[in-house]
Amino acid sequence: MKYIKMIEFILNNKTITTGKSASSILLDFIRTDQHLKGTKAGCREGDCGACTVLVGTLIDGKVNYQTAASCLTPLGNIAGKHVVTIEGINSNDLTPVQKALDKHSGTQCGFCTPGFVVSLTAHAMSEHEKTFDAAKLSVSGNICRCTGYKSIERAIDEITEELQEKTEHASLNWLIERRYLPEYFYAIPERLSKIKLPDSLPGSKIIGGGTDLYVQKPDETSDINASFYLNRKEFKGISVTKGTFTIGASVTANEIMYSEQFNSYFPKIKQWFKLISSEQIRNTGTLAGNIVNASPIGDLSVFFLALNADLKLSDDKENIRTIALKDFFLNYKTVDLNEGEFIKALEFRIPAEGFKFNFEKVSKRTHLDIASVNTAISYSVSSKGIVEEIHISGGGLAAVPKYFEKTRDYLIGKEINQDNLKNACDILVSEVNPISDIRGSKEYKTLLLKQLFFAHFKETSNQEN
Ligand SMILES: Cc1cc2nc3c(=O)[nH]c(=O)nc-3n(C[C@H](O)[C@H](O)[C@H](O)COP(=O)(O)OP(=O)(O)OC[C@H]3O[C@@H](n4cnc5c(N)ncnc54)[C@H](O)[C@@H]3O)c2cc1C
Ligand code: FES
Ligand code: FES
Repeated sequence: MKYIKMIEFILNNKTITTGKSASSILLDFIRTDQHLKGTKAGCREGDCGACTVLVGTLIDGKVNYQTAASCLTPLGNIAGKHVVTIEGINSNDLTPVQKALDKHSGTQCGFCTPGFVVSLTAHAMSEHEKTFDAAKLSVSGNICRCTGYKSIERAIDEITEELQEKTEHASLNWLIERRYLPEYFYAIPERLSKIKLPDSLPGSKIIGGGTDLYVQKPDETSDINASFYLNRKEFKGISVTKGTFTIGASVTANEIMYSEQFNSYFPKIKQWFKLISSEQIRNTGTLAGNIVNASPIGDLSVFFLALNADLKLSDDKENIRTIALKDFFLNYKTVDLNEGEFIKALEFRIPAEGFKFNFEKVSKRTHLDIASVNTAISYSVSSKGIVEEIHISGGGLAAVPKYFEKTRDYLIGKEINQDNLKNACDILVSEVNPISDIRGSKEYKTLLLKQLFFAHFKETSNQEN
């Protein structure tokens, strides 16, 4: 029997209470049940951005808005939130974002335009720096088939200039006065505070962000009893205590990318993470989802393997089991997770002071593409230049995200010099046997692995962290 629970949220200016299945898809609810046709259904795989909506979460009396791909968002993940479609942004006059797109001919057939407007409005609302590059990054998950991106870039240029005037303190006032948002946004924090959240919905299948499940099995997933982990407080948060990072299972890729803790220890994190999926997907795709889907090219798996991370697993009886991430991947898409177990958190010890870290990803397209090969490294050397600790990982090279154990054993206790690195590279290559597929031939992937291995040492040679 299906477990029915009412879900309440605000859609634009309307409070919604629905008994629809919590695992059903937001995009369908918006278009079919609410007849709001401005949000478009394009790829239904998170790729095109035509279905982009804003999702606002009440935090300490303020609402924090982020974009999401509504085609991969279950209703269970928006309980107690404010969902804004293009209709919820529109008013009698065009907004400054719409005016800029219109003025610079940034729209033609118009199919992608609501998605671009929502993403750029989210950028205007965000606390991200108001540079052209940051604005462009906000639409990295929006594809236009007909206008050509130059005219959209000119519109972004104009929006960026205007946003220089935005004041930090009275952000919402400024956005409403300048007609980026309609006035009903003022009342949203109070309205959200009155919504009663359902108790966590008990279900056999865990859904994090849903960005993997709804692509792999959309019909099956939309019709299951699920437990929704994305917003559960016990799975959120990033902390650093006594030299150990702890990251909740449901922390998203963007929460890692913009966290103070990661930016302080990994100053290049934004540069690396912007290569992972798109703004919309990073806003909802979780750490645990990336690890449990066990994709051989999972970027977060590869990143944390090189930090020699551990997973904290738990079950309903609160038994805790700790397992090294490198032992978690058993075989292609198979992980060491018992019936009823789930990931609670990931932990890693900060390597010794002066440790070096690097992440490299090569894909056919720079943005919004999965890797042909990705790899990461962390290492520390003694004052005499001897390797004390080293961890190297790679994706796209084996059936699982790979931890290079033999290469580590060889390099520990050695000096980093040309001869030792050359020997280490031979061992590295012998540890994998990549297959040829659409992301590259076996030979190409092997060559990439070699080149990226040396790139790690080149990139880290002058690193100061
Ligand atoms: C357009 C697009 C681009 C993408 N690009 C990339 C990319 O560049 N790099 C990349 O690595 N990935 C990419 N992905 C894949 C995906 O977005 C990520 O892997 C994401 O991190 C998955 O997380 P999720 O929370 O959405 O997973 P979900 O779909 O919610 O879940 C995936 C699996 O994890 C399980 N699960 C979730 N949480 C837990 C938990 N706490 N304990 C136990 N099991 C759990 C679920 O049951 C499910 O089996 C992309 C996806 C899309 C749609
Ligand atoms: S329909 Fe293409 S991203 Fe959702
Ligand atoms: S204007 Fe036609 S797809 Fe962008």
